[in-house]
Amino acid sequence: MKINYKTLAAIMLIVASITAQSAPPPGQLLASMCFQCHGTNGQAIKFESIAGKSSREIYKELLEMSKRKKIESIMDLQARAYTPGQMLQIANYLSTLPKAPKSGDDD
Ligand code: HEC
Repeated sequence: MKINYKTLAAIMLIVASITAQSAPPPGQLLASMCFQCHGTNGQAIKFESIAGKSSREIYKELLEMSKRKKIESIMDLQARAYTPGQMLQIANYLSTLPKAPKSGDDD
């Protein structure tokens, strides 16, 4: 098969659309670290749920925890691992996730 410009353009279009589809939403990879403790997709079983909070709220909390002089909890260490720009990406992504349903058997 001879490849002319039209064929090449078509191939490039296909490649571009595949790449666009497989790119994860911004912040998703960074936020996947949080799910270890905060539950799959941020819907916690025991620890605090972080899914479905407002982006502003999550960003504010992360920034605050990262700046705490004395490390008071495990989160203060977690928060220190990110730049403010990354925190914003994480917060924006987490705010798009659905809230955890109330489990009812929280004892
Ligand atoms: C190693 C376990 C662990 C990881 C990983 C972790 N967290 Fe937490 N997180 C906790 C615990 C435990 C608490 C509750 C105690 C506290 O407030 O520090 C908490 C609390 C929070 C709170 C509520 C703070 C408040 O004062 O209401 C937010 C928001 C939060 N985490 C966001 C995140 C985000 C975003 C990530 C990922 C970047 C993350 N966490 C990763 C364990 C973790």
